[in-house]
Amino acid sequence: MSSIGVGLIGTGFMGKAHALAFAAAAATFDLDRRPRLAILADADAERARISAGRWGFARSTGDWRALVADPEVEIVAIATPNYLHAEMALAALDAGKAVYCEKPMATGLAEARRMAERAQGRPTLLGYNYLRGPAVGLMKAMIAAGELGEVVAFAGRFAEDYMADPETLHSWRCVRALAGSGALGDLGSHLIGLAHHLVGDVEAVAGEVSTVIEARPLPGGGTARVENDDQVHALLKFAGGARGVVDISRVAWGHKNHLAVEITGTRGTLVFDQERLNELRLYRPGQAPATEGFTTVLAGPRHPPYGAFSPAPGHQLGYGDLKTAEVAHLLHGLAGREPLTPDFAAGFAIERVAAAIERASKEGRWVAIERD
Ligand SMILES: NC(=O)c1ccc[n+]([C@@H]2O[C@H](COP(=O)([O-])OP(=O)(O)OC[C@H]3O[C@@H](n4cnc5c(N)ncnc54)[C@H](O)[C@@H]3O)[C@@H](O)[C@H]2O)c1
Repeated sequence: MSSIGVGLIGTGFMGKAHALAFAAAAATFDLDRRPRLAILADADAERARISAGRWGFARSTGDWRALVADPEVEIVAIATPNYLHAEMALAALDAGKAVYCEKPMATGLAEARRMAERAQGRPTLLGYNYLRGPAVGLMKAMIAAGELGEVVAFAGRFAEDYMADPETLHSWRCVRALAGSGALGDLGSHLIGLAHHLVGDVEAVAGEVSTVIEARPLPGGGTARVENDDQVHALLKFAGGARGVVDISRVAWGHKNHLAVEITGTRGTLVFDQERLNELRLYRPGQAPATEGFTTVLAGPRHPPYGAFSPAPGHQLGYGDLKTAEVAHLLHGLAGREPLTPDFAAGFAIERVAAAIERASKEGRWVAIERD
């Protein structure tokens, strides 16, 4: 099997998730080319060196531009804070590389538009890993096969509590120029991506974004203002006619990764929660009255990509497996086996919905999603 050179930027939470996924993908999936861990970059060169040794990268650097320019690197994977995505992705595209970038794609609409324009006709993929889960795949297949009838409603919630404590320190995530929006970009982008994936394009939104904890402590003492939202409540109209509601929060005590959706059709209902990612709850009308109710389907080899990991149903996949499946999708896409999605064009569509929710909140009205 031939190999394909990978350059990864970032050694934090997502950097490690990418590294593990690139290392596992060829053993898990039937790939055309095996990822070769060529170079790992981090602003902290010593951290890059240590992580490269642990994760199996041949080389490391403190200069991401050297990674992008290196002829051994064919895929540039970007796992850095949001404000660096555009600069790094544009440089990688200019160098002729395939780009695999974490979400949200950018800190604002102008940057996202530039990335989408530059990426036209070029291979790109965004890190919307929750789309890879077996239950999400089953939901999509059931909806596409018409098993739910006509989809009439989407209710989505993405709640976490990683900033619920007012003593949680101020960080890049609270600064508009570094993060873009707050919970909306960080969590809401996943939820909007899932809504697009399952129900189709959103065409108009109304909503409100709000900041619950206005200032947070700085590491060295004192406090700094939080410049973006902690929570979002919005209504959606889908182009296909369905109506939706979303509730997004980074200050929702108790919730760790509560990316939950409920899809109502004229012939049934689907209920999913990422905190129980191996399960899909399903209600179909017409059941015997005494035992009617929701059925829980437990993921198994009949629900891709589960079978690539295990032949035994109910043994459960985890978060890292979704990242491995995402990397396999990237490599299948580069081999021309399947279209890459969500690419930068689809990511821009997600950003447009997020920006429209902010505008709707500011102007107190419904806002149509722009198309061009
Ligand atoms: N897909 C998901 O489920 C998911 C989950 C968490 C985070 N993310 C996204 O991943 C990205 C990174 O988040 P994280 O939680 O891994 O952050 P993190 O702070 O844990 O890691 C960021 C890394 O980037 C490095 N870095 C910063 N500036 C750099 C530079 N100029 N050059 C090279 N390296 C630099 C840092 O040293 C650090 O290693 C964010 O965009 C975030 O939204 C996605």
